[in-house]
Amino acid sequence: MGAGEREEEGVRVAVVGGTGSVGRPLVEALRRAGHAAVVVSRSTGADVVTGTGLDGALAGVDAVVDVTATRARTARDAERFFATATDRLVEAGRRAGVRHHVVLSVVGLDRAEGGPEWAGKRAQEERALTGPVPATVLRCTQFHDVAAEVVALTREGEVARVPPLLVQPVAVTDVALALVETAVGPARGRVPDLAGPQTEDLVDMARRTLAARGQHLRLVPTWRGVPYGVEMAGEVLLPGRGARLMPTSFDDWLLDDWRAA
Ligand SMILES: NC(=O)c1ccc[n+]([C@@H]2O[C@H](COP(=O)([O-])OP(=O)(O)OC[C@H]3O[C@@H](n4cnc5c(N)ncnc54)[C@H](OP(=O)(O)O)[C@@H]3O)[C@@H](O)[C@H]2O)c1
Repeated sequence: MGAGEREEEGVRVAVVGGTGSVGRPLVEALRRAGHAAVVVSRSTGADVVTGTGLDGALAGVDAVVDVTATRARTARDAERFFATATDRLVEAGRRAGVRHHVVLSVVGLDRAEGGPEWAGKRAQEERALTGPVPATVLRCTQFHDVAAEVVALTREGEVARVPPLLVQPVAVTDVALALVETAVGPARGRVPDLAGPQTEDLVDMARRTLAARGQHLRLVPTWRGVPYGVEMAGEVLLPGRGARLMPTSFDDWLLDDWRAA
């Protein structure tokens, strides 16, 4: 081992948003790999917007992984959330001597305007990459439950609307593994996109998810009244060149989802 290098063992990582759908498997994956995970969220007494509890939560931490999310409904509110949160996190990180700040972001952010969350994610990336703690931004594609989420949002009686999108979904557990590797390694700025093994069609994913769950709904492919606009059509949501493809396929996930039901 050269001077200044660290063993990638026993790293202390703060998972900000550690109670969320990415945060929970990330905390588990860190602990399984022999690292210490500190769960940071409002329910554990820390708030990234007000800054309450952050200094205490980051004491002795080597790396921070930001997997927070906001329900802000406007681009302005989402930008305010992620900009404030990132500024507070990296400032608290600098005070605590954190050596690596990691942001989980979304593939396609620079190819389309997107909804409110995307405006916030762009602010988050920019603040992290220009902040006082060396940072890495890892963008990933949608998770395997994206079609189920769209159906839950658009369902009216026995009918649900689904946009005919191309996606390359990734398992949240695979994202967690990639975040562990990223967090315990050195800061690398922007890194290649992370995605699942193959491209899928969202309407087909919705159909297969419903079939696996024994649900019968009529699906209407449309760009109207759905959470993704037509600007997301084509290859906007697909991973870029040199992307890292993780192994768990949509069919693998469906089988696990069905077994867990
Ligand atoms: N879903 C996808 O397909 C997808 C794809 C690519 C990237 N991502 C990114 O993944 C990230 C995580 O998403 P997710 O689905 O895991 O979100 P989630 O399940 O909604 O979890 C959000 C987490 O943030 C915490 N949080 C929210 N406001 C907070 C505050 N003011 N202070 C401290 N903690 C706060 C929540 O905990 P408390 O409520 O206890 O505070 C929770 O732990 C998002 O940034 C998203 O952009 C998602």
